Amino acid sequence: MTEVVPSSALSEVSLRLLCHDDIDTVKHLCGDWFPIEYPDSWYRDITSNKKFFSLAATYRGAIVGMIVAEIKNRTKIHKEDGDILASSFSVDTQVAYILSLGVVKEFRKHGIGSLLLESLKDHISTTAQDHCKAIYLHVLTTNNTAINFYENRDFRQHHYLPYYYSIRGVLKDGFTYVLYINGGHPPWTILLVATCRPISLPQLQARCYAGSGAECALLPPGVLVLPPCPGTTQWPGRHVYIHWERALQASPLPPAPSAPSHKMD
Ligand SMILES: CC(C)(COP(=O)(O)OP(=O)(O)OC[C@H]1O[C@@H](n2cnc3c(N)ncnc32)[C@H](O)[C@@H]1OP(=O)(O)O)[C@@H](O)C(=O)NCCC(=O)NCCS
Repeated sequence: MTEVVPSSALSEVSLRLLCHDDIDTVKHLCGDWFPIEYPDSWYRDITSNKKFFSLAATYRGAIVGMIVAEIKNRTKIHKEDGDILASSFSVDTQVAYILSLGVVKEFRKHGIGSLLLESLKDHISTTAQDHCKAIYLHVLTTNNTAINFYENRDFRQHHYLPYYYSIRGVLKDGFTYVLYINGGHPPWTILLVATCRPISLPQLQARCYAGSGAECALLPPGVLVLPPCPGTTQWPGRHVYIHWERALQASPLPPAPSAPSHKMD
């Protein structure tokens, strides 16, 4: 599509579900947008299988964008993303996985990507109501345009996935991005302590209140932080990981250890 796209293009965009007759067009578009090759069965599936929400944005009859997503049970979440939702959510909790979102180059930055994403959210709220707790997706770590797009729409990076993609035989890293909806949340969350300066252990204790775990440096019951700044006894003062589920059950923090007494004889 080479015509100049008027700034009012969005007002002429219509939405419709993809169908079998769209396969060739969709193949062509995905070939333009993504460095990944999908098998023919994938194109048949996303255009015919009702488990996919496959929506096309059309402009004067031509497809100029599409979103493909699957709303599924949390038990069907990719293994590597199994910790997207806290285990306190029941097994019939649902999540939506975005398999594909793309807009024809000339039509980008006209609001079509946002329209498609909002339409997915509307679809979720009518079909899954509030049983769907998260929308997630995978993206190449080098795809800055898409990363900015998602981050500006409140998606947050959840996982770094080394060598996740194989692109023409070369392994490339990916990220998992998640948008929590309807009260969904991960087992772990990050509290950004409101200081740029390093803070001491007692200060952290005063601010944090959580469960324990194994992956990070373990402080007195309940508080987990990144390892201390090398060569100091202070913590970075930025990322403090709190275990949500245990935080709910946690008993109050024990008293902070008293400051070491430096006796001067
Ligand atoms: C990511 C992608 C789908 C976004 O689609 P898009 O149609 O450009 O998205 P939008 O137009 O809704 O938003 C893009 C930006 O343009 C801005 N924009 C929207 N309408 C605009 C207008 N009329 N004038 C100026 N800017 C506008 C938006 O505000 C947004 O910027 P922001 O994120 O800072 O808010 C698109 O870049 C794409 O197809 N990329 C290639 C495929 C891809 O990588 N997909 C993601 C795989 S995970």
